[in-house]
Amino acid sequence: MRMKGVVLAGGTGSRLFPLTKVTNKHLLPVGQAPMIWHPVWKLKQGGIEEILIVTGTEHMGAVVGCLGSGKDFGCRFTYKVQDEAGGIAQALALAENFASEEPICVILGDNIFQDGLGSQMEAYARQGRGARILLKLVPDPQRFGVAEVLGDRVVGIEEKPKTPKSSMAVAGIYFYDRKVFDIIRTVRPSGRGELEITDVNNTYIQRGEMSFGSLEGWWSDAGTFPSLALAGELATKEPAPFPDIPRKD
Ligand code: G1P
Repeated sequence: MRMKGVVLAGGTGSRLFPLTKVTNKHLLPVGQAPMIWHPVWKLKQGGIEEILIVTGTEHMGAVVGCLGSGKDFGCRFTYKVQDEAGGIAQALALAENFASEEPICVILGDNIFQDGLGSQMEAYARQGRGARILLKLVPDPQRFGVAEVLGDRVVGIEEKPKTPKSSMAVAGIYFYDRKVFDIIRTVRPSGRGELEITDVNNTYIQRGEMSFGSLEGWWSDAGTFPSLALAGELATKEPAPFPDIPRKD
């Protein structure tokens, strides 16, 4: 199955201020590389080279400066500007023309994880349509989208619930078919004024078109000081992404 990649790297990074005063959160160091190299590397390792990067206006120049055309990465990058921070689903809507008719693997630019995505991509290819999410057992589920699983089915997701129904966090790694863009058009802003990816995922669940997999290795977001430090610590123990790119000028 041909699949394209999308890395969502918008947002203001307000929880990491002042580190994000003059740069984009996704350019901050995680282990031996800028944060955004990690999701790009996971896509590339899974065989996806056609990748859309979505980021805000403020630091687009720096993001393009960091990644370039993709030549050094063995990828082809396309860039789209998210004018205002209106949520993950709003950022994803910008991928419609890029995706064209093809399925997409979407990674939130601050999700750092150990697993390769090859087997999940294969599982989604076998599924052939609909969506697939990846879950991870965590000690602090109220920080995330939380999935309720019955047997082999995910029956609902709650976004940052005060009293979570499980400890299964929804990782920021998603597989979608082209219907995702029609679904996003039906989603209304949440209480925090954002188009929530969780509402998109719940629509797939209601239609009976959502599968899930589990992350076996470690996973962390990197959007807060403790999680950024943890992600850096974990990533340092792994082989650095894009080892063939020269580290010195
Ligand atoms: C987002 C999603 C949430 C998901 C998380 C993963 O939350 O809304 O469902 O679990 O990413 O990192 P954010 O932390 O961006 O608000």
